[in-house]
Amino acid sequence: MRPVKVGLLGLGVVGGGTWAVLTGNAEEIARRAGRRIEVVAAAVRDIEKARRLVGDAIAITSDGMALVRDPDIEIVVELIGGDTQAFEWVMEAIRQGKHVVTANKALLARHGNEIFAAAHAQGVMVAFEAAVAGGIPIVKAIREGLTANHIQWLAGIINGTTNFILSEMRVRGVSFEQALADAQRLGYAEADPTFDIEGVDAAHKLTLLASLAFGIPVQFDKAYIEGIANLAQEDIAHAERLGYRIKLLGITKRRPEGIELRVHPALIPAERLLANVEGAMNAVMISGDMVGATLYYGQGAGALPTASSVVADLVDMTRLLAADPEHRVPLLAFQPDAMADTPILAM
Ligand code: NDP
Ligand code: HSE
Repeated sequence: MRPVKVGLLGLGVVGGGTWAVLTGNAEEIARRAGRRIEVVAAAVRDIEKARRLVGDAIAITSDGMALVRDPDIEIVVELIGGDTQAFEWVMEAIRQGKHVVTANKALLARHGNEIFAAAHAQGVMVAFEAAVAGGIPIVKAIREGLTANHIQWLAGIINGTTNFILSEMRVRGVSFEQALADAQRLGYAEADPTFDIEGVDAAHKLTLLASLAFGIPVQFDKAYIEGIANLAQEDIAHAERLGYRIKLLGITKRRPEGIELRVHPALIPAERLLANVEGAMNAVMISGDMVGATLYYGQGAGALPTASSVVADLVDMTRLLAADPEHRVPLLAFQPDAMADTPILAM
């Protein structure tokens, strides 16, 4: 059977990881997807750098719009980040009838409602497993594994950079600045790391999780956000002496009067599971009315774990492409339900 043809927008940390996963595990992936998944082109800013990564194996361009309009490409994978250029190219891909995979939570938190509506109207799929909690299949867990439940609440560590910084400061006594620089070197941080340390990235992700969990539109602007930028070494040491650890948590909870949506540092007793999540690991607890509490743990950032989720979406899409378009399960974030009009509570 002919391969599914994919275009990559971006070949940086996650794009490079995606290339490595698709080439490194090509046989397994083809078997599981039912067809080979073939990257035919990538768009980047620095063509020479991209060539050093992929050689002559694929076409490299600096013109993302040309890639998106290439009639040969069926799936566009957006891994450039930001919410301006990425928005323009993703919307054009959808208009061109292409399916989209993205790891870009900033894009979806700001423009998700418009993007999902356009995809729905055009009959194409948009998937974003990698946008939340890196390598943990958390979107799949909510959409598929917990689909028989009313989700009651969800709470967790959903930013790897800040968890890495807090761990480094507590365990190794590293300064905030040094720990952030290390997180950037390791490829965990956002292009603008203030998104990480001010809690914005966690709020982007929480907004998407709340949308999935409660069937509400994406409402990032209503989230309460407080980051870790003002925490000092002595706050961490003081918490430790009292038997607590400081973690940046994202919490969303269904209440009779509305939905809580908040990101802030929290004191967690040192013996609790979440208190012992270290480094760039993420952990998310989700409670459903039928299943009770469940816990998901894994690498929350970095090239290969994130790429593992990008490729999982590509495999899902490839399988679904084999189905009659009428019967494809829509890979959409916003599936309105009885909660669709529920207000977000002011904090
Ligand atoms: P990088 O900065 O490492 O890579 C960005 C890539 O996009 C580079 O290849 C860059 O090209 C290319 N690019 C950027 N702007 C343009 C443009 N205007 N035209 C053409 N190419 C462009 O970012 P990451 O890989 O870390 O992040 C990508 C996305 O994945 C972001 O949305 C991020 O939030 C998300 N993400 C990141 C994770 C991580 O651990 N890093 C984890 C989960 C999600 P060039 O190399 O030539 O500059
Ligand atoms: N900057 C993000 C983080 C990348 O540190 O969690 C993963 O989404």
